[in-house]
Amino acid sequence: MRKLYIAGNWKMNMVPSQAVEFAKSLKEQVKDAKVRVMVAPTFVCLPDVARVLKGSNITVAAQNMNDHESGAYTGEISPDMLKDIGVNAVILGHSERRLYYGETNSFINSKVLLALKKGMEVVLCVGETLEEREGGKLEAVLKEQVNVGLEGVDASQMDKITIAYEPVWAIGTGRTASPDDADSAHAYIRSLLAKKYSADVAEKAIIQYGGSVKPDNVKELMAKENIDGALVGGASLTLDKFLPIVHCI
Ligand code: PGA
Repeated sequence: MRKLYIAGNWKMNMVPSQAVEFAKSLKEQVKDAKVRVMVAPTFVCLPDVARVLKGSNITVAAQNMNDHESGAYTGEISPDMLKDIGVNAVILGHSERRLYYGETNSFINSKVLLALKKGMEVVLCVGETLEEREGGKLEAVLKEQVNVGLEGVDASQMDKITIAYEPVWAIGTGRTASPDDADSAHAYIRSLLAKKYSADVAEKAIIQYGGSVKPDNVKELMAKENIDGALVGGASLTLDKFLPIVHCI
């Protein structure tokens, strides 16, 4: 039985003082959650949030990291820097990184490999644009993103990987994939994992759905066989929306 995993991606929102207050309240109010919980604050909020959430049932993740261990990479953050402040998880390949910062599948793969080498947990985001979906390319796009994104990752490391399926046209738009459409994309991703690894790896893999998840649609989505959680953007920024999502079961 896969345990649901609900993650809040705060994107470029909240200044550190707000993030700390939010994290303190969240910690109290999700301590009995039946799901796994993650939050991903901005880099400048991470040290404080990681301190507040230390020892809690909430995993703290970065929203990105560099693909090198150290060196002359102005403006970048390495995995060792994250680990030193108690952050052992990272979201990689978010569609906003792909779209606005030109991140490619092979570049994302180099970050995945480095994160795993450092023993970090990874949420690898995949998903198609509207144009790709309407052009009949859904499966081809997901196949490339999953296979290249996980190149060189072996089966024994797959318990460190969560896949987040986020159709780009559903992110921040208020448009959600129907639960059936999302479930079939998730089933396809699971079949890719079965082919690349084994039926057992595929069966155990946690595949989150992301894209306009809200308190009023989370239950239907989570009821689907292949949907094992959510990567939540906008609705993770206020407790009145995020708590009902976390407590959806
Ligand atoms: P959204 O974002 O919930 O605001 O659509 C999801 C995401 O990008 O992770």
